Amino acid sequence: MKITPTEFQLLRDYIEEQCGICLNREKAYLLESRLISFIEAYKCKDFSEFYYIVKGGAHADLKDKLVDAMTTNETLWFRDAHPYSILKEKILPSFAQAVKDGKKNKIKIWSAASSTGQEPYSIAITVRDFCMGQSIIKKEMVEILATDISDSSLVKAKAGKYDSIAMSRGINPEQLNRYFTKEANSYVVNQEIKEMVKFQKFNLQDNPIILEPNFDVVFMRYVAIYFNDEFKKNLYKRLARVLAFKGFLVIGAVETMRGLSEDFEMLSHANGLYYRCKR
Ligand SMILES: C[S@@+](CC[C@H](N)C(=O)[O-])C[C@H]1O[C@@H](n2cnc3c(N)ncnc32)[C@H](O)[C@@H]1O
Repeated sequence: MKITPTEFQLLRDYIEEQCGICLNREKAYLLESRLISFIEAYKCKDFSEFYYIVKGGAHADLKDKLVDAMTTNETLWFRDAHPYSILKEKILPSFAQAVKDGKKNKIKIWSAASSTGQEPYSIAITVRDFCMGQSIIKKEMVEILATDISDSSLVKAKAGKYDSIAMSRGINPEQLNRYFTKEANSYVVNQEIKEMVKFQKFNLQDNPIILEPNFDVVFMRYVAIYFNDEFKKNLYKRLARVLAFKGFLVIGAVETMRGLSEDFEMLSHANGLYYRCKR
């Protein structure tokens, strides 16, 4: 079934309104392919009928299912490598000094688009490795909050169970051995790492102050690419407000904040960039 330009516009606007994900006309095929199962399940004669069903609100969870279907959950372990070197070699050591000086006793990290969990668990593994190598920051002092809008991703992330294809993307044999348990054809994140991460549903359209007013580090990677510039500007503004004094922001390697925010200064380490809140 083909989507007409009018149907595309209606659904495109509705999706952007719900979650900020912005689809251009070239993505009409994406709407068609991702929504066809809904068209069949709700026995709709076309995409406009489906649009009016979702908008009508009679099916309570349909809006969430539609948003879920339109998210792209591509992720991998230790994506781009440098964010984790930055965390281990720059950010955590700077907090260790603050803890030593009695200025800090908790470290709060937010993985703001955690998808199926590879990012927050990679953060947890990095924190755990760091904590084993020194005695100032204890693992228990570090809180990792992982959020996403996609219900299906959150379910997978909480289960922490991955197939061999997912495991072939960024985990080395030593980490596999140390942090995962094999169960039939899957690998499950060990309890110690699982317990370090708390998962929660959160829409980046909303104000993260409801999650926590004082994050020390935010990983917001490969999600702003789906939003328009106005959304990105507001998002970075909200992030600057929930970051602690001189808190850190890590974005995707291909992403830029140029022209979108004046609230952050750019730093570099390990061939990668990261940002620090100016205030
Ligand atoms: C491409 S994945 C990136 C995952 C991970 N950060 C990484 O870099 O590997 C993008 C994620 O952003 C989530 N997302 C999209 N729009 C969102 C929104 N408005 N609020 C929260 N999460 C959103 C999607 O569900 C998806 O899991």
